[in-house]
Amino acid sequence: VKITFIGGGNMAAAMIGGLLEKGYAAREFAAVEISAQARERLAARYAVRVYDRAGPEALACDVLVLAVKPQDMRRALEPLRGRLAQQLVVSIAAGLRLGDISRWLGGHAALVRAMPNTPALIGAGIAGLYAAPEVGAEGRARAEAVLAAVGATVWVEDEALLDPVTALSGSGPAYVFYFIEALEQAGVALGLAAADARKLAIQTVLGAARLAASSDDPPAVLRERVTSKGGTTEAALKVFAAEAVAARIGKAIEAASRRGTELGAQLGSDPGGKD
Ligand SMILES: NC(=O)c1ccc[n+]([C@@H]2O[C@H](COP(=O)([O-])OP(=O)(O)OC[C@H]3O[C@@H](n4cnc5c(N)ncnc54)[C@H](OP(=O)(O)O)[C@@H]3O)[C@@H](O)[C@H]2O)c1
Repeated sequence: VKITFIGGGNMAAAMIGGLLEKGYAAREFAAVEISAQARERLAARYAVRVYDRAGPEALACDVLVLAVKPQDMRRALEPLRGRLAQQLVVSIAAGLRLGDISRWLGGHAALVRAMPNTPALIGAGIAGLYAAPEVGAEGRARAEAVLAAVGATVWVEDEALLDPVTALSGSGPAYVFYFIEALEQAGVALGLAAADARKLAIQTVLGAARLAASSDDPPAVLRERVTSKGGTTEAALKVFAAEAVAARIGKAIEAASRRGTELGAQLGSDPGGKD
């Protein structure tokens, strides 16, 4: 399977690194990247082919991964317009809708949209995926393999559900950092040294997440199991309940999802350009 990346930045590098680790050969990969520095970095680190524009060699591939910033996408796709045939196009650009990408490509239909998150940069990401109806089982498997190189994957059957995915897992790492910060501050307020409080907070989140991931029981059961009657955990959870923390998290994620929908509409409409 030949894979070409349009945009050879952080995400493309992480995905190429992950795929090489899974046994793909470097000669299968190419990247079209406008920054000379990024091209040199990719070539030196992974020995993949790099191009400064999308010539015929770069486009001779099975999968084309669109990995430029959403606001750069329209310009990056202009030279590709009408030049794609059977290639499966996988966009990882946050917010951009497949209808807009298809239009910018001159009507290409073999499209998959993925929403990864930043832990992908260390191979611990999770991506939501949506395939256009024209994409068959083989195309889905190919797209999934590309994203699985940097983490877990979840398919959704309606593109609109990528907005809640973005709100949950796309923006999610920031909520977890916020929670870690709050734990650390609480520890410091109670007299712990800052470095110790941070270490305790980070390792607790990491350990609890790993426990939840490896357990057959849902998180609610794991929570109940560590909450003994009249104990310390119960004292804290009572405050969470009284302050309606879960409902507020719900509100926050709803706001993020709504914002995703708005940004998607904005990114696709380009009054200056002609479609
Ligand atoms: N990082 C994440 O965790 C994450 C999570 C979810 C989604 N994503 C999505 O992944 C995409 C890539 O993110 P990233 O963090 O990898 O960004 P990045 O590091 O900025 O990589 C994008 C690269 O594309 C280059 N580029 C810009 N215009 C181009 C063009 N017309 N042709 C070819 N290359 C071009 C950029 O060069 P210049 O720097 O010179 O402009 C840059 O090197 C974004 O759409 C983002 O929404 C990323």
